[in-house]
Amino acid sequence: MITDKYGRYVDDIRISVTKKCNLKCIYCHHEGQWQNDFNKNDEMTPDEIYKIVEIGTKFGIKKVKLTGGEPLIRNDIYEIISKISKLNEIEDISLVTNGTLLKDSVKKLVESGLKRINVSLDCLEPSIYKNITKSNNNLIPNDIIEGIKLAIAHGLTPLKLNMVVLKGVNDTEIERMIELSSDLGATLQLIELVPYREREGFLKFHVDLSNIEEKIKKSAVKTKIRELQKRMIYFLENGAIIEFVKPYHNPEFCANCHRIRVTSAGRLKPCLRTNTNLINILEPLREGKSDKELEKLFINAIECRKPYYLD
Ligand code: 5AD
Repeated sequence: MITDKYGRYVDDIRISVTKKCNLKCIYCHHEGQWQNDFNKNDEMTPDEIYKIVEIGTKFGIKKVKLTGGEPLIRNDIYEIISKISKLNEIEDISLVTNGTLLKDSVKKLVESGLKRINVSLDCLEPSIYKNITKSNNNLIPNDIIEGIKLAIAHGLTPLKLNMVVLKGVNDTEIERMIELSSDLGATLQLIELVPYREREGFLKFHVDLSNIEEKIKKSAVKTKIRELQKRMIYFLENGAIIEFVKPYHNPEFCANCHRIRVTSAGRLKPCLRTNTNLINILEPLREGKSDKELEKLFINAIECRKPYYLD
């Protein structure tokens, strides 16, 4: 295992397997890539994704998270998972999905070796859902919850619900979402909005989660701190588990970040918030460069990681 210049080990890789998505969420930051316009619709093959993870294991990668776009849009998502799950070093493979295609995928995801999922669900109210996701297929949260229940029944747990809190849009839904997570036995992740393409939208919708966190803290029967990004986890009396994700201007988030990212176009992305230091690993891989050379790129990516507050 190696560490970066600030002593942070990297044991977690978050890979965007596609840019494509069947929803158009108003706040989407495209996995921190909103500043880049990756017009290439290039996607990595299952073998290429496998190779990048395999290289990563040599430097301490133990956890893989697949994301998108919407990863379940890829027909070969099962092949991607099953290849990665053959790597002995990998202890955890999870996937972030909007849940719209979940119901029909659960069985095959489990068979492929997937351990758990995070489902993006920002509210329960159908009209708010439609407003946020701009979905035109009349899917409503209840349909997604069916998929979530099936996923839990098939052991894709601990299942997490991702709720990005948006001022004046879904902040009235927090209570209902807490109840839902307690009913389902899922963890609710309350996520602070980070900047995305529309600056005005960000300023309008951004909520500092501290006040909400204070309230929840008061009613918690137990708390825990997660190593990754020093996230706080609160256990409520009704059984709900609430995790706070506060990536915005939060030194703790950066100082305790152990994650590296890969963009859908095969660039190593050392930091969520920085887009000037991406390292193209896909091209050398396609050119048939040796493992040694690919390893060098991985080391470079780790070496240029830098917490934002040092800029
Ligand atoms: N701020 C915070 N989280 C975001 N996500 C997408 N856009 C943003 C943003 N601007 C999160 C959602 C989704 C995950 C893939 O990314 O929670 O679940």
